[in-house]
Amino acid sequence: MSINIAIDGPAGAGKSTIAKLIARKLNYIYVDTGAMYRAMGLFFMEKGFSPDDETAINGACGEADISIAYENGSQQVYLNGKNVTDRLRTEEAGKWASATSKYSAVRAKLVEMQQKIAASENVVMDGRDIGTVVLPGADLKIYLTASAETRARRRFQELTEKGIPCKIEEIEQDIRNRDYQDMHRENSPLKKAEDAVCLDSSHMSIEEVAGTIIGYLSGTDGEKQKKGTDA
Ligand code: DC
Repeated sequence: MSINIAIDGPAGAGKSTIAKLIARKLNYIYVDTGAMYRAMGLFFMEKGFSPDDETAINGACGEADISIAYENGSQQVYLNGKNVTDRLRTEEAGKWASATSKYSAVRAKLVEMQQKIAASENVVMDGRDIGTVVLPGADLKIYLTASAETRARRRFQELTEKGIPCKIEEIEQDIRNRDYQDMHRENSPLKKAEDAVCLDSSHMSIEEVAGTIIGYLSGTDGEKQKKGTDA
């Protein structure tokens, strides 16, 4: 039986950095579900749809063939046969993902893919609804958060280091808007699963957060194996 770790939380809390690190340490597969929503967002953008056009978006989901593969341990996302991984981390793809991930057909399609992967592999999966909807029976659920100021500062540093001009006030506003959109949508809004452990990374290093999560797993992993033997 595969072991599943679910990490949810708002944009910029450090989910992907932490999830990647834990997956490497444990030799599990890291599944970045945000990248799948971003690829769908890109597909709708290229179709020339308006992000408000729910009927067109739900109707076109079947035309988007999304698949993921692992190359040297890193997740690659294919959209209709083309590797779009390098185009997914832009602000534009993020905005389209946030705007279109609220639609039921988009979610149903990607949730099914995510559940299939987790059924056969040990995974660290990050997103917004992993502990609540995708993997309600996950062995360990983490809700990773950080203050909006901290998240904006981290993003500002990351963009500045890459030489991309940006304003910290605008980044913080974007983060607040994205939080609102992700937490208030009708379909699978971002929220902490009742049985998730909440970690605020505002004053913790990456290694500290990863170490804390792996520490929790040692407890739950033993429990799971014990339950497996008893059954
Ligand atoms: O984690 P991210 O920033 O790459 O996610 C992009 C958007 O996709 C995010 O604003 C909300 C959506 N998303 C979602 O609705 N459910 C997920 N499991 C992952 C992401």
